Amino acid sequence: MNRRELLKVAAAAGTLPWLAGGCTSRESHAFAAQYLTGNFAPVEAEITATDLRVTGQIPEQLVGRYLRNGPNPVEDVDPLEHHWFIGDGMVHGVRLDGGQAVWYRNRWVRSTHVANVLGEPGEGELPDFGPNTHVIGFADSTWALVEGGAPPVELDDELETIGVNTFEGTLPGGFTAHPKLDPDTGELHAMCYWWPNQRGYVQYVRIGPNGKVTKSVDIPVAGMPMIHDMSITERYIVIYDLPVTVKLSMLVTRGGFPFAWDDDHGARVGLLPRDGAAEDVIWIDVSPCYVYHPMNAYDDADGNVVIDVCRYERMFDRDIYGPFGDNVATLDRWTLNPTTRRSSETRIHDRGQEFPRCHPARLGKPYRYGYTAAVDGLDFSRIYKHDLKTGITRSIAMGAGRHTGEPYFIPREGGTAEDDGFLLSYVYDAGHNTSELVIWDAQDFDAPALARVHLPARVPYGFHGSWVPDEGVGV
Ligand SMILES: [Fe+2]
Repeated sequence: MNRRELLKVAAAAGTLPWLAGGCTSRESHAFAAQYLTGNFAPVEAEITATDLRVTGQIPEQLVGRYLRNGPNPVEDVDPLEHHWFIGDGMVHGVRLDGGQAVWYRNRWVRSTHVANVLGEPGEGELPDFGPNTHVIGFADSTWALVEGGAPPVELDDELETIGVNTFEGTLPGGFTAHPKLDPDTGELHAMCYWWPNQRGYVQYVRIGPNGKVTKSVDIPVAGMPMIHDMSITERYIVIYDLPVTVKLSMLVTRGGFPFAWDDDHGARVGLLPRDGAAEDVIWIDVSPCYVYHPMNAYDDADGNVVIDVCRYERMFDRDIYGPFGDNVATLDRWTLNPTTRRSSETRIHDRGQEFPRCHPARLGKPYRYGYTAAVDGLDFSRIYKHDLKTGITRSIAMGAGRHTGEPYFIPREGGTAEDDGFLLSYVYDAGHNTSELVIWDAQDFDAPALARVHLPARVPYGFHGSWVPDEGVGV
């Protein structure tokens, strides 16, 4: 269903007269505009650059591509009504091999809209919307992903769009931007929703290492909550049913992004036993909040489920154009008892932060270290490393005018310590209006970066990415 058809749905729902009365304000317009300024602004060109200048030494083990997706509107948008989440997807990538930075590329994910604006005939089957949220390497392919219904789009090794790929036709409905790679089985787990055709349930999907869906479970939920991410533990699939829900009326104002805070929707976490059915889900209430991203989740020795999340008190309440205007997320821990169905909450770290990551082999298991990007207003000035055993948080400051994004952890080959590895992130330098790919030693936060790959263009703030090794997967 394209945007025009969605508008018809909103009109049929009788919401247009209410909207005509106006529900925007000077304040909300200011929120909208900020997601087009500074390094939120889109870049206007696709670039291919080779033999990139490097300061420092790129670890020899890194042979593959560091990819990251994010919104980058392909044509001018209304700065008073632009929602950060609906910009056309653009993937940025740097190829590393033998200690060299072989190339940088940025490419719009082709949709029918992007192809039309660029004057291209369009090859293959293109989606209405170019996925803008995550990019992963899985089942020998590269996938650009978004939630809400736009299908996965397959890219080639040099980020050119191949076309829609619904896991070779096996995907029963929509997909998600945040599948979880099971470190033991190599399967992907995903919690999917799509609108406006699907109401009253979310869909759990499991995909085998060969890239084909092997299981799906429809799980009833009230209304249509925005379920951005999910977690796995060794026993459960974790569902985040939180009070941001769809309001189709918002398709025709407020940037066309139809989700907002909903005081009438409860906040609960669902635990679906790994091999269970919908009726087996254990629902446990938590205090009202919104969570985009869990850092990790696991079963503890007492049978509880422990979940560490970047938790917002509210979301899309005052600022309905992006995630940073209402409040910033703190790093909190939920401990859920599946027997009593009771929860407790503690705060791990009280500073604003987002884009949590951990060692990929510890996903779904007890773990010690997690990494986040600091969020202070629209300032992303440091990377945090949380030692969840000692409670000590350390940080890497980016430096004056420099801003990070999601910190991606890559284990060192042959390493045994959980933090023995590398952190990668694109860093924006406002003073020079350029960006770098920066590689740090995750065990030595006092040392300078191991390597800085100087890029020929700015990489706008975006969402998520992956290190995709030539041999293997990256999610
Ligand atoms: Fe996300």
